Amino acid sequence: MTAKSFSSRIVAWQRTHGRHDLPWQNTRDAYRIWLSEIMLQQTQVATVLPYYARFLAKFPTVAALAEAAEDDVLASWAGLGYYSRARNLHKAAKQVVALHGGQFPADVALLAELPGVGRSTAAAIAAFAHDVIAPILDGNVKRVLARHAGVEGFPGAGPVEKKLWREAEVRVPKRASDMVAYTQGLMDMGATICSRSDPTCLLCPVAADCAARVTGRTNDIPAPRPSKAIPHRTQRYLLAVHGSDVLLIKRPSPGIWGGLWCLPEIGEHDDASDIARQQFGVDKSGATHDLPPFEHTFTHFKLTLQVTRVTVQRLATRATEPGTLWLSSEGLSSAALPAPIAKLLAGL
Ligand code: ADE
Repeated sequence: MTAKSFSSRIVAWQRTHGRHDLPWQNTRDAYRIWLSEIMLQQTQVATVLPYYARFLAKFPTVAALAEAAEDDVLASWAGLGYYSRARNLHKAAKQVVALHGGQFPADVALLAELPGVGRSTAAAIAAFAHDVIAPILDGNVKRVLARHAGVEGFPGAGPVEKKLWREAEVRVPKRASDMVAYTQGLMDMGATICSRSDPTCLLCPVAADCAARVTGRTNDIPAPRPSKAIPHRTQRYLLAVHGSDVLLIKRPSPGIWGGLWCLPEIGEHDDASDIARQQFGVDKSGATHDLPPFEHTFTHFKLTLQVTRVTVQRLATRATEPGTLWLSSEGLSSAALPAPIAKLLAGL
């Protein structure tokens, strides 16, 4: 063992080598911290940066977010994926206003009651905003701790995760004033030095007593997710085009893409022009044709999208029912669309 504790080495390393200029650092505003943590849950820093700035410009306070229409929140999120995060974000903002007078609580247990805020996110918010001494354990930190403590098994498995929480608990600093640097330091280590493959152990402040390092097993710990073939689904969609407008329907929530605007689904053997006429009251005026199929991968399944394009002429009243929208090409960038649909429409 080295004389210095794990946490003091992480803290010292963070202060000299860690990141200090991310837009959610150097603030005690729990709203800004919370927003960054939710965006960063499944998305990389580089992707989050422009979304974060735009989102804050549009919703500068938790009260502004709570008062917003869900559609506006989803539109600002569109492209970040995992939309349940955006719906939970909106619900949580409403709860902060309704239950906590518009102030995020400092207590980890109370924070963890907010939709979309798990134990690790709650601890990160409390540490960054209030120096609360509480351990974090996000995906990257699981890797750092699994290696340092030599915890075998896939970190996403319940019993392994429980062991890792224990390792996280015994490593937290004793001093509250170290919590910001410590919490950020673990995240920075996980994102840089302690990478999944070929970690840069020569630069690591805790390499001397890292179990995986000492035993030459950094490539085996943490164990990868046990491979399970993910199911594959195919879905046909109707692309009804009227001039430069495209027919969209609002997806039911919950469900994939819940609350977002999407092309109407059609059955494998449906006649696309019949559906356009019967369900949406529009007649075709040009040729019908199938676009090349394309794939989108979700966490739990793969989707092949088959799109049939119908050019239509007459717009009847049915097409303007609630839950139906004719989106013009100018509206594309501001509408709440699933990423693959936005990409498809942008390419038209
Ligand atoms: N990932 C999760 N939280 C983060 C943070 N505060 N800074 C950088 N990456 C993160």
